[in-house]
Amino acid sequence: MNLTGKKILLGVSGGIAVYKSCELLRLLQKKGAEVRVCMTEAATEFVAPLTFASLSKCPVYLKNGAVEARPFQHIDFPRWADLYLVVPATANVIGKFACGIADDPVSLCFMSCTCPRVIAPAMNVAMYNSPAVKRNLEVLRGFECTTVLESPAGELACGEVGQGRLMEPEEIVKWLDGSTSSPTLPRSLSLSKGKASEPPAFPVAKDIDPTLDDTLPGYGKKVLLTAGRTEEAIDPVRYISNRSSGKTAVALASVFYANGFQVEVVAGPMEAAFPGGVKVTRVRSARDMHDAVMSRLECADAVVHCAAVADYRPAHAADAKIKDSRSQLTIELVPNPNILRDCTAARASRTGKEASRSQNAGASRNQNAAPKQQVIVGFALETDHFKEHAAEKLAKSGADALLLNAPVASDSGFGHDCVRYTLVRPGMEVPEMKMGGKVDLAQEIVGFVIDKLRV
Ligand SMILES: Cc1cc2nc3c(=O)[nH]c(=O)nc-3n(C[C@H](O)[C@H](O)[C@H](O)COP(=O)(O)O)c2cc1C
Repeated sequence: MNLTGKKILLGVSGGIAVYKSCELLRLLQKKGAEVRVCMTEAATEFVAPLTFASLSKCPVYLKNGAVEARPFQHIDFPRWADLYLVVPATANVIGKFACGIADDPVSLCFMSCTCPRVIAPAMNVAMYNSPAVKRNLEVLRGFECTTVLESPAGELACGEVGQGRLMEPEEIVKWLDGSTSSPTLPRSLSLSKGKASEPPAFPVAKDIDPTLDDTLPGYGKKVLLTAGRTEEAIDPVRYISNRSSGKTAVALASVFYANGFQVEVVAGPMEAAFPGGVKVTRVRSARDMHDAVMSRLECADAVVHCAAVADYRPAHAADAKIKDSRSQLTIELVPNPNILRDCTAARASRTGKEASRSQNAGASRNQNAAPKQQVIVGFALETDHFKEHAAEKLAKSGADALLLNAPVASDSGFGHDCVRYTLVRPGMEVPEMKMGGKVDLAQEIVGFVIDKLRV
């Protein structure tokens, strides 16, 4: 079945495999399908709705309507869909589907949709083999226009081995488009509403990485992001840090990924989770982040410094917990390395070396031989004199742009989906700040990077 133009509703319930549905969403889009997402509350604990909203470019249907819910999403979404895919399906939602319970977005959509439904169970082997789950899956297999995908056996996320793994996203897509010949898989579905039938098969080139889409503007480009906050140890149990939740970085990673970039993140501690397909290296302190970024810098076409890095750290971290004497304690602070400035300095030195190399090779007369400049974007969080501080920081940093943001309103900034921001560029007046979603902010930065890389 050709997935081009098909409308697919992706139901996501709360299992450890939720991150794989981000990859599935991308693969379906790559096949030309339009995807919308509904999530259970438990699923949002594993991957933030913001990730699905930015990948699908559509608000996610959530129980509490946290992301721009409309009143009739429980009817609109299933009516809109040509196919309802539940990936991963937890033991819990499987039980609800089988029993006719509809008290969350995923089970509500299951009940109210009239299109074909496909369920990909994923759970621990003991749960999968439990009499209740076995019975519920059997009940669902008997429902009209409902297909239960195999859960392959293998090593499970919990470390046990057995049946209950989520079918891999590539396999689900191959099965949907009819290009798989695996005898273990159930037959595919036609995406015509209310009717299941065998689709025509067509071959998929085996040597093409299915997650890369050469029609996207970022195809073949690498972006390095910093994310989250840093923690600067005072002693083994205490540290200096800040309130960054990492939501902006997740929005950025998702939008870069959705635009075809290879995304690598160096992330300090943070609450928000990255989508599958994004490579994440975890660090804790500013110095660790500095080292991790500098060692990855050269391969990146663009670097976006989104992390809230501590400017200072205690001069000495105590080896043992500092005892409580209730007397005054003074902690000496020393400056941390400036990661943004070190990146622009490294770029300047590389560009200088490359220019002199090409001059030596006599290529300087050829405009096309000029080395492609790495794009570097920094962040400036300010609480006063926004424009002056941002302009000064941009000039000192040598970056191509600075995202000025201000977490001043009670409903924006740290931990929220909205933020006051503006993109500041060298030689231009600092624009007025506007209030927008973190996905909007991410789209502005990604657009800027794409434009710069095209020059
Ligand atoms: C770390 C963790 C991983 C879990 N993984 C799974 C899983 O893979 N499959 C499953 O059925 N339940 C899993 N659970 C249990 C579900 O999250 C739990 O049953 C929850 O109530 C499901 O809610 P939902 O079906 O509304 O999404 C997991 C729980 C935790 C804490």
